[in-house]
Amino acid sequence: MNSDILEMLIGAEDYVSGEELSRKLGVSRTAVWKKINALRKEGYVIESATKKGYKLKIMPDLLNKKTISSNLDTNFIGKEIDVMRSVDSTNEEIKRRASAGAESGLIVAADEQTSGKGRLGRVWESDSGGIYFTILIRPELSPNEISAITLAAGYAVCLAIREYTELDAKIKWPNDIIIGSKKICGILTEMAAQTDRVDYVAIGIGINVNHESFPGKISGKASSLYLELGKKLDRNDFFRCVIKKLDKVLSDFLVSFSSEDLNEFRRLCATIGRNVSVKRNGILLEGKATDLTPGGELVITDNSGKEYIINSGEVTVQGIY
Ligand code: BTN
Repeated sequence: MNSDILEMLIGAEDYVSGEELSRKLGVSRTAVWKKINALRKEGYVIESATKKGYKLKIMPDLLNKKTISSNLDTNFIGKEIDVMRSVDSTNEEIKRRASAGAESGLIVAADEQTSGKGRLGRVWESDSGGIYFTILIRPELSPNEISAITLAAGYAVCLAIREYTELDAKIKWPNDIIIGSKKICGILTEMAAQTDRVDYVAIGIGINVNHESFPGKISGKASSLYLELGKKLDRNDFFRCVIKKLDKVLSDFLVSFSSEDLNEFRRLCATIGRNVSVKRNGILLEGKATDLTPGGELVITDNSGKEYIINSGEVTVQGIY
């Protein structure tokens, strides 16, 4: 009910009486008062005045469904959004909801994750200040077409960061977003599939937005939009921009990724033109990243001029990480 009260207070231009809140939410006045106090503890400044009721004065820097959803008007991504204060992992939460029948396009976002997951079994630090979210998609694709969706999602986030902040965000293939040589965003895609049919895909995206610092071992490698820009972002507003871009790019992608998009992806891919190394079946392949295929795979050319096509894996890029 906290979020219902909040939505009513955000939507109201003036005071909302305790009587109206209790009537519309179907709870007692005492329950309303308790929930108002709970919101105050979360950092919401809510003024109360006799005979007038409650008025929201200051919102804390928390993700808020009502603000994110206003004027969103997307095709399918974010038609339903759920915002949680804290969750183990938004990927795990989406998987639970997918098993319970949730629809394609659902986003679950959280201010904090207690067991955020990175690629290759790593931990994803998920302190407050970031945007951590997972999108549920039920595409009519075969399992081997799914890695391209992740590329498209990374490309969309890169475009959103560039548009919203004017920072020179680039893609480290396949789908890290970097600024300079530091990581700003990571994506973990998981799926449930039969051999020839995908049941659902969970695209988990973590963006370092307002972090002021990072713990020791990752501080040399990670940065945030705040650290790069020198000012904090309105996370709800920025998140809306990211969702809109994801909706546009993924809607186009599920029909067919245009050659303009592919060319733009190439232009924004910081990996191309650099010396790289990647392990394939335990063997280290070293060379230069020379191109992307129309399907988004990385072309690596070794010293002898032989070309290798890589469709997944952890690529180390000279000068980045
Ligand atoms: C990476 O290792 O680069 C991928 C990081 C993915 C992190 C995001 S945060 C939201 C979603 N929930 C998770 O537990 N992980 C992903």
